[in-house]
Amino acid sequence: MAILLTGGAGYIGSHTYVELVQAGYDAVIVDNFYNSCPDVIERLKAITGKPVTYYDVDVCDRKALEKVFLNHTFDAVIHFAGYKAVGESVAKPLAYYRNNLDSTFALCDAMQAHGVSRFVFSSSATVYGLAETVPLTETMPTGCTNPYGWTKYMIEQVLRDIAVAHPDWAVALLRYFNPIGAHESGTIGEDPVGLPNNLMPFITQVASGKLAKLRVFGNDYDTPDGTGVRDYIHVVDLARGHVAACRYLLSHTGCEVFNLGTGLGVSVLELIHTFERVNNIPIPFDVVERRPGDIATCYADASKAKTVLDWEASLTLEDMCRDSWRWQSQNPKGYRA
Ligand code: UD1
Repeated sequence: MAILLTGGAGYIGSHTYVELVQAGYDAVIVDNFYNSCPDVIERLKAITGKPVTYYDVDVCDRKALEKVFLNHTFDAVIHFAGYKAVGESVAKPLAYYRNNLDSTFALCDAMQAHGVSRFVFSSSATVYGLAETVPLTETMPTGCTNPYGWTKYMIEQVLRDIAVAHPDWAVALLRYFNPIGAHESGTIGEDPVGLPNNLMPFITQVASGKLAKLRVFGNDYDTPDGTGVRDYIHVVDLARGHVAACRYLLSHTGCEVFNLGTGLGVSVLELIHTFERVNNIPIPFDVVERRPGDIATCYADASKAKTVLDWEASLTLEDMCRDSWRWQSQNPKGYRA
């Protein structure tokens, strides 16, 4: 069974590549390395012990994408490629809408032209917007707070409509919670360009001495210790969720939404203290103002994925902290060393 991974050289895509190959699938990567590094290809080869088939192609480039589809017979597509920085999306909405939507349209057109009808989409818990009750279930109302989130929301709707119009299509919309951690080899991981936006890359860069101090955005939320609560999930667990979704799509049609999270809420302070304990490294921090747009608490009801996909997260917060640090300490400059 052959699977196309758009954005397969990125953080989640590369980990999913490994899990797919180890589960016996043929995986083909399409990536323009806009937000990833070609070095990841050699590392995927080393981890899997197999040659990596990849194309340096922008998914929006229809002619180039057509050539990829002519060279392979895909059974399914996993669409990771897309712009993903919340703050940048507020500053450059048109670029986000154009890139994220157009790449999806180009991909769906190529799939239709070549009779490929199984689609796994990289969505996000961001589509729950300012939801005030937790845990978040897949049936809760959706709505977003920034253009990045709206692109995920809109693509979900596009895929839902395609699945209605074409009953042979099988679509899984995977809403990720907060992926952290890295492959246990320490050779692939998250490699943010410039100053990290998210908490764990910030923690690891403070641990390495690259950044002096962490800023904790608010300790006056209505949470047990006042800091924001999130559902952190090990990226390898998340990757295995994609393998489970591909397996599911082999014998189902229609469109289903799945939360991929652990179902556990962890505060900023808990994450910092777990990282310090597991790695024996102090993380100095200051508490500062809340970050605009942040919500107090966000964690998944992950029971649907367990029941329907037979998948659940198994790696612990300790595993996530240990593996994030192994990646950062072995690659202080990321892939660009
Ligand atoms: C953010 C995005 C979300 C995206 C996700 C990807 C926003 C509003 N949401 O989620 O759309 O899908 O990343 O993983 O940007 N924190 C600090 N100090 C820091 C960084 C973060 O205290 O330097 C806190 C935040 O206030 C929050 C928690 O850590 O409580 C997690 O933040 P982050 O890693 O940025 O993820 P989200 O905001 O949940």
